[in-house]
Amino acid sequence: MDFSIDRSSKKPIYKQIAENIEKGIATGEFSPDNPLPSERVLAKKLNVNRSTIVSAYDELQSVGVVERIKGSGTRISTDIWGISHKRIPNWGRYVEDGSFLPNLPLVQKLRTETQKNKLINLASGELAPDLFPADQFRSILTEHPFDGHLGYDHPQGNEGLRETISNHVKIYKNISVTPESILITSGAQQALHLIVQCLLKPGDTVAIENPSYFYSLPVFQSAGLNTLLLPVDKYGVNPDDIISLQKKHRIRMLFLNPDHQNPTGTKMSVNRRKRILELSSEYGIPIIEDDPYGLTSFNGDIGPNLKSIDYNGNVVYVSSLSKIVASGLRIGWIIGPQKVIERLADAKQQVDYGHSIFPQWIANEYLKSPEFDKHISMLRIQLKERRDLLINSLLSISNDQEKFIIPEGGIHLWYKLDEQINEYKLLDESIKKGVAFVPGKIFGSDKGYVRFTYGRGEKDLIKEGISRFASVLTDSFNISTK
Ligand SMILES: Cc1ncc(COP(=O)(O)O)c(C=O)c1O
Repeated sequence: MDFSIDRSSKKPIYKQIAENIEKGIATGEFSPDNPLPSERVLAKKLNVNRSTIVSAYDELQSVGVVERIKGSGTRISTDIWGISHKRIPNWGRYVEDGSFLPNLPLVQKLRTETQKNKLINLASGELAPDLFPADQFRSILTEHPFDGHLGYDHPQGNEGLRETISNHVKIYKNISVTPESILITSGAQQALHLIVQCLLKPGDTVAIENPSYFYSLPVFQSAGLNTLLLPVDKYGVNPDDIISLQKKHRIRMLFLNPDHQNPTGTKMSVNRRKRILELSSEYGIPIIEDDPYGLTSFNGDIGPNLKSIDYNGNVVYVSSLSKIVASGLRIGWIIGPQKVIERLADAKQQVDYGHSIFPQWIANEYLKSPEFDKHISMLRIQLKERRDLLINSLLSISNDQEKFIIPEGGIHLWYKLDEQINEYKLLDESIKKGVAFVPGKIFGSDKGYVRFTYGRGEKDLIKEGISRFASVLTDSFNISTK
């Protein structure tokens, strides 16, 4: 059998060997009547450690392709060649080979750790449970019996909700749009996914913020896009950086989160917004404006959203109720040229037959009611209080005001670490002490930052969370905290 092993491949050698053996079985090269080569013989033949062959055989055994009997070596499983001729698919391989990439292992770890619920959670990008309008939802459910249609809804989403959203964005964001140019999505996340899948193709180059919202990164990578990075400073992305990138590359699309950016919490200056819109028109580059945090602005100072001053139709606007009402509701929306909206709606219909009627119904009732505005006022006060609690706690461990930019809205704060700190070790040790946050590297940052989500923090636990974080800095990294 020709074992072609590619030593430069990212795929571990034992997996390559296992795949070769499987191929040999499928083509009949390895017969069920004969044992497979012993570990020692195969290791020598392929010039690898014996433990590599053991791992390859272990892998094949775990999916039922081979049997290993003490003293008789390794044989092709009778399940494959026996009377039933059953073959067990190699699920491991299927799981690895799919074109949609899995989350980074660290993201998966954070999800499992925070779900265990014993941690002080300053990691999850959502509101704390006490900030959701649970009582208001309960009243809607008891006072307004559902009387909607139970069949498939319009592919763009419920007409009533689209009408309400067109009023909502006019009142709060000064965006004028008809319901025909709105698509309801399962959060802003699905909006980004649909845009990437339907408007771009593998090999296209997009420019994104650095650092940027990490759940969007696998979406770009899975779609085979090249990503160029635009550094974010106190005033957002610098238009000059777009000019220099465009000189060297052909940017097909620009993804921006101008208001209370995730993860830096920064708000783009008005001048930069205007200049970026000019560049977008000059170069013909569409902008995706991702705006889930705009309404959280503590002093009520909104935008101006790029979409509200987009006189040429260059901006596709994305928003959601996740960060201002409830992340579990899964209601988001896209506003854009009708042609684009129809294309995305057609794709959404193929993916899930349109959005579920119940979240749309309750979102509509809630957005129409005076309760929504009261909730936003309460949310701003609460988030500001939590931000102040976090800042005061951080200043009590290091008086260095340069370590963070004070967010004026949103739910995240971006905190600079001392150079020598390994972010992953920092998180591991912090989880052991019962507090979680997100290491900056996940957001594409290479400079040693962490993201604290004060919006997720419970008020009476933020101080304790930072004091645990400080004890890790002292105990594991010898950094003195006052
Ligand atoms: C900038 C940004 N965009 C999009 C999303 C996705 O949010 P959702 O799908 O819950 O609306 C998030 C969530 O953290 C975000 O921070």
